[in-house]
Amino acid sequence: MKRSLLDSQTVLYGVLGDPIGHSRSPIMHNRAFRECGINAAYTAFHVTAEQLHGAVEGIRALGLGGVNVTIPHKVEIMPYLDKIDEGARIAGAVNTVVNQNGVLTGYNTDGIGYVRSLKEETGVDLTTARVLLIGAGGAARGVAYELAREGVPCIYIANRTSKRAVELAEVMGKYTEVIGLGMDEIGDIMHEVSIVINTTSVGMSPHVDLTPIPEEYLHQGLIVSDLIYNPRVTRLLREAEACGARTHGGLGMFIFQGACAFELWTGKPAPIEVMREIVLESLQNRG
Ligand code: ATR
Repeated sequence: MKRSLLDSQTVLYGVLGDPIGHSRSPIMHNRAFRECGINAAYTAFHVTAEQLHGAVEGIRALGLGGVNVTIPHKVEIMPYLDKIDEGARIAGAVNTVVNQNGVLTGYNTDGIGYVRSLKEETGVDLTTARVLLIGAGGAARGVAYELAREGVPCIYIANRTSKRAVELAEVMGKYTEVIGLGMDEIGDIMHEVSIVINTTSVGMSPHVDLTPIPEEYLHQGLIVSDLIYNPRVTRLLREAEACGARTHGGLGMFIFQGACAFELWTGKPAPIEVMREIVLESLQNRG
């Protein structure tokens, strides 16, 4: 059954962020609910930092099914929740909240979503991969944790500020072999790396002429992946493609983080293909 009308049984979901006007999450989730015949609706809530606590109370008071959380609230929302899932605790950030009879649990589906997208779109075997992760911020933490859980035997974390990379490597060292280094040291390890992943914002619109790693380090045998999806093809991915490397963009991560959230909320498998289709269509229409 394909529903389109709201009624008194409709369960409401949404995304909290500031700014939020360009979020593609509402069209993606509403399309998914409709596809699966679920009586639910999803909207975008513009919530400032001062309003965040009140907004979380509102989830309980109004009985929302759950929310996504985006910039700048992914860390700040954590103390207002009742429970934090282990992955979110280790990533240090929450992007999905599930409301179960007034008990709010925070999850992080960014890292899981990224790894699901990487595996499905490249078919890579992560259990033999040697990964260079560029960046040591929140996004890098979630991705590093999930890569370790997938059995990646060795992860190098390189960051402009090497101290942050070394600190993150220490934390993640509990899960697999992880080595932190400065960006200026990557020349020494490039020959043994099979996947390069950019988790920084370097190359994101409007700074599309920037790239996080010198072109001379790229080669044919690599998979090069960028978490950025605006633009769809970053300078890093263009240069990787030009030297024959396989490339993987950030759009899949967006789709799959949404898919994982959908599955947490509904207990049903997410209709990935229609979600991807409608987001692509919206990016083409609105740039
Ligand atoms: P997020 O949660 O999106 O990962 P973050 O925690 O602010 O955001 O982390 C941003 C990451 O991008 C960091 O690794 C940052 O490097 P520093 O730790 O040295 O700040 C990296 N980054 C941001 N802008 C950068 C730039 N212009 N050049 C190199 N690295 C940059």
